[in-house]
Amino acid sequence: MRVDVVTIFPDYFGPASGVGGPLGVSLIGKAAARGDVAFHIHDLRQWAADVHHTVDDTPFGGGPGMVMKADVWGAALDAILSAEPAGSAGQSTPAVPSVTGARLVVPTPSGVPFTQEMALAYTGERHLVFACGRYEGIDARVVEDARARGMAVDEVSIGDYVLAGGEAAVVVIVEAVCRLLPGVLGNERSVSDDSFGGGGGSMHGLLEGPVYTRPRAWRGNEVPAVLLSGDHAAIARWQRDEALRRTAERRPDLIRRLAAGDGLDARDRAVLIQAGFPVDGESMAH
Ligand code: 6GU
Repeated sequence: MRVDVVTIFPDYFGPASGVGGPLGVSLIGKAAARGDVAFHIHDLRQWAADVHHTVDDTPFGGGPGMVMKADVWGAALDAILSAEPAGSAGQSTPAVPSVTGARLVVPTPSGVPFTQEMALAYTGERHLVFACGRYEGIDARVVEDARARGMAVDEVSIGDYVLAGGEAAVVVIVEAVCRLLPGVLGNERSVSDDSFGGGGGSMHGLLEGPVYTRPRAWRGNEVPAVLLSGDHAAIARWQRDEALRRTAERRPDLIRRLAAGDGLDARDRAVLIQAGFPVDGESMAH
């Protein structure tokens, strides 16, 4: 997978962005070293037309802050997409590139929520292009124009809070995707046991419960006895019960979603009722 990132802060991704930084370490760094993912970081200002390398301007209609310019973003995306391998980018290298094989991802607090399902879907992409906005955002015509040319475009948010720019969100999204790439995770099984269980395993849609390792007793606290029992069915049931209780406490919205989608069996419902969570059809509605 090729990943292009366009930003006014290329150094965010590592010094002079030879791509060290957060994309160069740990799991993502190993995926890059193996060649499973290739990063290309671009300074948006190289596509600014004036001597001051201006990338923003005051908003039409007034209001606070500045808006990133459509012409600068258009030139950046044209340049990056025209470097796409032939076959998908059009045979005759048109002056204005049209449909390409790339997906444009625009991190923004006004986007759709980025989810584990999207992370899994992105593992099937050949080329992701991230457009990092700063200030009050990017002129809306940039996304409209990319879509009109047939490009797949996602405007995504990583949570209900406001960051100063899309760069941190890019790191979050890239890490969520890269750890799902075949061969990245040491233990394939742990994908489906993750919180949100993108792999569709037995914990699908639930937060992961508590985990323990040696020593068995620590500061007077014993590890739950069932985990030492060797009874694998009992352990699996206990882990699901803990996941249900934790999810009900911290993310009741996820329990409601599971209940609506037939994701809770009679035993699950009994556990939730015992934990004081309302799980009969009526009270689940809100
Ligand atoms: Cl994706 N970008 C920015 N700038 N702020 C955010 C966000 C993204 N997600 C939540 N807040």
